[in-house]
Amino acid sequence: MVLAMLSAWPISDPPAAAQELNTRVFGLEFNNPVGLAAGLDKDAAAPAAWQALGFGFAELGTITPRPQAGTSRPRIWRLPEQRALINQLGFPSKGMEAVGRRIEELRAKGLRLRIGLNIGPNKATPASRVASDYAMLARGLGALADFIVINLSSPNTPGLRAFQSPERLREIRAAIDEPHPSTVRYLVKLSPDIGAAELGAICDTIVQLGFAGIVATNTTLARTEVGIAWEQAGGLSGLPLRERSRDMVRAIRRHIGTQIPIIGVGGIASAEDAYRHIRAGASLVELYTGLIFEGPTLATLINAGLAALLRRDGFRSISDAVGVDA
Ligand SMILES: Cc1cc2nc3c(=O)[nH]c(=O)nc-3n(C[C@H](O)[C@H](O)[C@H](O)COP(=O)(O)O)c2cc1C
Repeated sequence: MVLAMLSAWPISDPPAAAQELNTRVFGLEFNNPVGLAAGLDKDAAAPAAWQALGFGFAELGTITPRPQAGTSRPRIWRLPEQRALINQLGFPSKGMEAVGRRIEELRAKGLRLRIGLNIGPNKATPASRVASDYAMLARGLGALADFIVINLSSPNTPGLRAFQSPERLREIRAAIDEPHPSTVRYLVKLSPDIGAAELGAICDTIVQLGFAGIVATNTTLARTEVGIAWEQAGGLSGLPLRERSRDMVRAIRRHIGTQIPIIGVGGIASAEDAYRHIRAGASLVELYTGLIFEGPTLATLINAGLAALLRRDGFRSISDAVGVDA
């Protein structure tokens, strides 16, 4: 409903960002490091609004090859006191052809926002065909995006998280690179529920296979460990995820160093939160749940606050602060 209204937003120039916030990540210039996380705008309804609201980029999707309805309602639960959401959406998507056309239309009208497209398999796709779904999506959408995010970590598509293994990821990379290695920037989005040993192995594979970066993290299935008493099944996001997500960003940074950048996401709802993710190792940050509770001025507020924090601590740019606490 709100998205339908925002979809009519006229395309305007992005608001100017403080110089310190301009940053270069995987060879691309970003006006500022604060992005919209995947899942809020699955079908590219409102990129012009995200740009006008001060986001430096938006990750749209998850987009599936064929249209699908997702889980039946109710499928999002608000936990206002805990500043958290639980969702069980299951990738409702208009499908890659419709979303691709929408992005082409917005680009033709002059949209300049950096766009990442987050892709995932259809629910009905058997495990043996998941790599071909990713390959089809990569072929259909790769040229339209600044980067593509391979989503292996949503808890609401049965079996998807099992693809976070070196063998399965190799299968996906091979399918995407068929018939020849792709020049598109591919990132991999990970779950915060991966154990330490598995995390090291999957990060090594991500680097070896030439992925451009890692998005950490998706929602968590944890409850009591992150201070939530509510049993409702689904992916938990927001404040209770914040420390777990930041710890994972830090662990990845320690493991892979500066070989490829990390996009940090999970529980960010203020400039201080964003700054701490950056200091833990994130070159860019994203948010979803914070926007729901704090409202549409959040990206602008975070950017203003980040510039002030950088100046306070004597950093000349975002990139100087990345990983200083890792
Ligand atoms: C309602 C909802 C739907 C989401 N859908 C997707 C999705 O389709 N694909 C994806 O990769 N992540 C999805 N996410 C996860 C977010 O992109 C993000 O990784 C996670 O919510 C943590 O960030 P946050 O605490 O700022 O919300 C979704 C999150 C929420 C709350």
